[in-house]
Amino acid sequence: MGEERSENKHGVVGRRVNRRDFAKTSVAAGAAVALPGTLRGEVAAEGKATEAAALPNYGRSHRPALPPDPGGYGGPDIEQEAGRRREPARHGYPGGWRERTTIPGEYYNDERHYLADERFIAENLWLYVDHQSRIPNPGDYFVFEFGRSESVIIVRSSDGEVRGFHNVCRHRGSRLCRHDADPTPGDPRLSVKQLGQSGSSPVFRCPYHAWTYDTDGNLIYAYGMQDDFDPADNGLVPCHLGTVEGSIFVNLSRAQEPPELDAAVAQMRALTERYGVADLTIAAREQYPIKANWKLALENFQECYHCGPSHQALSTTHHYDYEATPQQLAAQTAKVHAWVPEKARRDRQGGMDGMAGSDGSQYKPETSGHLNPGFVTGSLDGKPVAPLLPNIDAWNHETQNATTAHSTGYWQCYDDHVAIARFTPRDVNRTDCEIIWLVHPDAVEGRDYDPDNVKALWHVTIQEDIWITDNNHAGIRSDAYRSGRYSGAETGPAGFVKWYMSEVVTPGDH
Ligand code: FES
Ligand code: FE
Repeated sequence: MGEERSENKHGVVGRRVNRRDFAKTSVAAGAAVALPGTLRGEVAAEGKATEAAALPNYGRSHRPALPPDPGGYGGPDIEQEAGRRREPARHGYPGGWRERTTIPGEYYNDERHYLADERFIAENLWLYVDHQSRIPNPGDYFVFEFGRSESVIIVRSSDGEVRGFHNVCRHRGSRLCRHDADPTPGDPRLSVKQLGQSGSSPVFRCPYHAWTYDTDGNLIYAYGMQDDFDPADNGLVPCHLGTVEGSIFVNLSRAQEPPELDAAVAQMRALTERYGVADLTIAAREQYPIKANWKLALENFQECYHCGPSHQALSTTHHYDYEATPQQLAAQTAKVHAWVPEKARRDRQGGMDGMAGSDGSQYKPETSGHLNPGFVTGSLDGKPVAPLLPNIDAWNHETQNATTAHSTGYWQCYDDHVAIARFTPRDVNRTDCEIIWLVHPDAVEGRDYDPDNVKALWHVTIQEDIWITDNNHAGIRSDAYRSGRYSGAETGPAGFVKWYMSEVVTPGDH
């Protein structure tokens, strides 16, 4: 019906969500099962929707069409190859901006634009949050933060479902779980107690006046309230949430109906199904704050024009050909084909190439790639970093990637591990980046893998990316910055900023 479930061999239930499915989740999350009497073992009323579930339907009435993601590093400049005019005479963009050029500095620097961007993203995009294995047991939770002020509790509820609730007490609005790093060292003379940014708890108790909610978001304790106060109308406000192949997504729209999830994750679903990402387990996690506007962080992740100059380790491992001349490309390809087994090349050709997503997106061969001779995985020395993934029966000498929401979520898959990068806008010149690395669920740390080895390639690469992205924004803040020309190898960011200027920037924003 509205929900598809699949149970893997480890008993983890995969859940695919569509709109009807979400509607069910929303109502369930806000259902009127919460009464102080619950604490005394009384049976609660069922099926009564709370005002928390009846969210006001405002914001943009028009949901803009989201073009398919470019899929990682973009591809060749088709128009240039076809000999067409490179700069079509297009007019009508804000500030006289022209396609195939970088956008004016105000869209990276102006707080008003940032706040409009933030609202647009909240209303229209599904944001990748984390992998389901982070919260395997009922009561396990963590806090996901977006923008300047949004904070969401992602929790495994008592029935095993993953749910999301805004981290805002329904009494007077306090945060239930910490919205920043826990203070250390704690002063033992202070009596205020509050849950941290992640952990496990059967209830969420507000530190202010002790209103208490269960893991389904129901208010189960509030003392001293009037007779006409109904706890059932004061459950936590749910957010739109869906889990796809083990990856949790949220949409923070205030509207009752979220954007279509299936279309937004079509490409990512195809890839992560193949690599069995839902069943994998987290081997390592690292945070990499970026001092740059969110668009610069995403632009950087949609092109590999910078990989030669800026990513020596990554370019040594991955086989990139975007900057090569036809002669260089032919020579490189011959070298790779001499190294990659014939069967692996055939499988790749007949497997993912040309796969279509439900949103019309294509799995693009150029977004995946062979590894360079001597490398079987994404490691610094080319050697394996963990056992082969359960779905992979031999070293295929390749790596493949997929993205969602214009690269706010980014999956890079190898035969023995998967790296997932998350980019989250936080302020006009601040973007959170977090990477998690996943390995075979039966792999044992210390015996089968060393987390530092699993992390090594992307730990180096993302620090290089942060360096160049911070540095990019530093230059764009200058009065001397002018729109520059994207190269033919930067169709990813060129398409991204075209989408931004067409769909995100509205007449009222400029
Ligand atoms: Fe949470 Fe008062 S603000 S109990
Ligand atoms: Fe990079």
